[in-house]
Amino acid sequence: MLAQNLLIVLFLLSNITLASGFLDVLAAVGSYLVNMYLERDGLLPFDTKRLKADLNKSLFGQHIVSDVVLKSVSSFMADRNPNKPLVLSFHGTSGVGKNHVANIIARNIYKKGENSKHVHVRVPELHFPPGEHSHIYSAKLKKLFLREVYWFPRSMFIFDEMDKMDPQLIDTLKPFLDYNARVDGVSFRNAIFIFLSNAGGNVIVETALDFWREGKTREEIRMNSKELETKISQNVLNDKNSGFQHSSLIDHHLVDHFIPFLPLELKHVRQCVLAEMVHLKMTEDTDLADKVARDMPFFPEKEKIFSVKGCKSVRQKLFLYSDEELLFQFL
Ligand SMILES: Nc1ncnc2c1ncn2[C@@H]1O[C@H](COP(=O)(O)OP(=O)(O)OP(=O)(O)O)[C@@H](O)[C@H]1O
Ligand SMILES: [Mg+2]
Repeated sequence: MLAQNLLIVLFLLSNITLASGFLDVLAAVGSYLVNMYLERDGLLPFDTKRLKADLNKSLFGQHIVSDVVLKSVSSFMADRNPNKPLVLSFHGTSGVGKNHVANIIARNIYKKGENSKHVHVRVPELHFPPGEHSHIYSAKLKKLFLREVYWFPRSMFIFDEMDKMDPQLIDTLKPFLDYNARVDGVSFRNAIFIFLSNAGGNVIVETALDFWREGKTREEIRMNSKELETKISQNVLNDKNSGFQHSSLIDHHLVDHFIPFLPLELKHVRQCVLAEMVHLKMTEDTDLADKVARDMPFFPEKEKIFSVKGCKSVRQKLFLYSDEELLFQFL
């Protein structure tokens, strides 16, 4: 049976070869299959209003981030002929929403959001652990960029814990992020790179504390307040513990925006608890949300203004306070 089928296929193929050229047909079939693959996991029609609404609804206490992300992503998506890929660098202490915002951007660009085949997340400790030579990682990265962007120019690359990445490896990224970036015939001008790191977190916290001490509201903090953006890039560039140190990405101004994530206050943590309740399909309970939020650690020790862990482990804390019924739902 199998042999019979094979014969039929060979017969058909030989006819096709004679009729129109086997290679042409193969190329057409290949391109059809690739299109099918990309269609199933493609782009959403981009909608600035939808991104704005999503940021308003799902991101708490990060007015600078909302503003810069909305403007930079929207203008980049609308630009038919950008001169370089979009490169955003997110900075801030733990649990303030860096991964959360990367996911918000992804779900406004790709049908499958962060789970799209075109969103590539790399975590240095996981993907480039020390031990192997960095030139091997470097070669792997180049291959990944070229392959993915060749097939799908609007690919997204997220580098988490960028401060733990080997500086040599960071320098590998340079040609791909540059103006009019074209590497081995592949144009990178439609790609998106997002770097996440805790580097610069202390500068951001200091600025936020200064504002608080001066009696100003947090909303008054702007991207250029007390030269915040410049201070972050300087701090990141000079930090001995940061992979960015002396990195050519910063020297060559290839990062479009260094975006500061402010430390979160009690009211934001409370909002995170309420959001978690909705996520877990619990009835919203503001008293319980308040209790859970207050149970999180805050700093400075005396004034207790900012949450040490941001909104991290809010769900775990919520479970501690919830009745057994809720727990059984998940066990
Ligand atoms: N500003 C925020 N608004 C809404 N939810 C938030 C915010 N910050 C954090 N969260 C919630 O807390 C979770 C943890 O935050 P996230 O992973 O984004 O922190 P991070 O800044 O990446 O921290 P780390 O530096 O430790 O990796 C998110 O999945 C989200 O549910
Ligand atoms: Mg993170």
